[in-house]
Amino acid sequence: MTKLSPSVQRRWFVTGASRGLGHAIATLAIARGDKVCLVARHPDIAAVAAALGPDAIGVQADVSKAEDLATACAAVADRWGGIDVLVNNAGLHRGGKVDVLDVADWEQSLATNLSGPMHAVRAALPHMSGGGSIVNIGAVVGFRGFAGDSCYGASKAGLAGLTQILATELAARQIRVNLVVPGFVMTDMTAGVSERARDAIVAKVPLRRMGKPEEIADVCWWVAGSTYMTGSVVMTDGGLMCNL
Ligand SMILES: NC(=O)c1ccc[n+]([C@@H]2O[C@H](COP(=O)([O-])OP(=O)(O)OC[C@H]3O[C@@H](n4cnc5c(N)ncnc54)[C@H](OP(=O)(O)O)[C@@H]3O)[C@@H](O)[C@H]2O)c1
Repeated sequence: MTKLSPSVQRRWFVTGASRGLGHAIATLAIARGDKVCLVARHPDIAAVAAALGPDAIGVQADVSKAEDLATACAAVADRWGGIDVLVNNAGLHRGGKVDVLDVADWEQSLATNLSGPMHAVRAALPHMSGGGSIVNIGAVVGFRGFAGDSCYGASKAGLAGLTQILATELAARQIRVNLVVPGFVMTDMTAGVSERARDAIVAKVPLRRMGKPEEIADVCWWVAGSTYMTGSVVMTDGGLMCNL
C-alpha cells in the first residue's frame, strides 16, 4: 500500500462544489497545492472549476444516481490516476413536521444526503489506496432533535452512522473516514432562514455568530490530512452542540 506524504499533490473529489461549503473546500485545497474535481448537477460546473485554475476540473453528476458517480470517479482516475480525498458534501435541506411533510421530500433528502455518500464511496473506492481519506459532512440536526427537520435530521443521522461503519470497514485498507459537522453557516442553504429564526439560532451559539464557509473548509483540510483519526465526529459549530 502506498502512504501519502504531505508533499504529494493530493487528488480531491468534492461533491456539491458548485457553491457554498463544497466550493470553499475545493478553493482552499487548490490554494494549498492540491488538485480537485468539483462535482455538482449544475451545467456550468466545468466553468466554475475552470475559474479556479488548472488544478481544478468540473464534472456534472447527480449524487443520487450511482451511475453518475461511477462515471465521474472513473473519469478522474483516468485523468489523474486515482483519488486521495473524497468529500461527501452535496446536500439539500427539506423541512416539514412529520404529519405534513411531503414524502417526495423525505425520499429526495435520503437519496441525496445519505444514499449519495454511499454511492460516492462505492464509486471512489476502486480508485483509492492506503492513506486515502473520506470526509463526510454532517449536521447538528443529525445529533439533536429539531422539530420540523425529520427529513434532513434523519438523513444526517444516517450519515453519522455510515461514517462509523465505514471507518471500521476501511481501516484495513488504511482509508480513514470522518464526519465534519458544521454549525450554522452562511450559504444559499441558510440564506432563506428568516432574520428572527437566524437570530434565535445565533443566540444559542456560544461564539455568537454564524460560521464562514472558509472556516469549515479549513477543518476539512485538516481532517483530510490527519493520519491517526478515523470514525471521528469533528464539531465545527461555534459551540452550538454544547448549548443544546
Ligand atoms: N450551511 C449550513 O449551515 C450547513 C450546516 C450543516 C451542514 N451543512 C451541510 O453542508 C453541505 C453543503 O451545504 P451548503 O450550505 O454549502 O449548501 P448549498 O449552498 O445549498 O450547496 C449545496 C451543494 O450541493 C449540491 N447538490 C445538491 N444536490 C445535489 C445532487 N443531487 N447531486 C450533486 N450535487 C448536489 C449543489 O449543487 P447543484 O445544485 O449544482 O447540484 C451545491 O453545490 C450539505 O451537506 C449541508 O447539509 C450545511
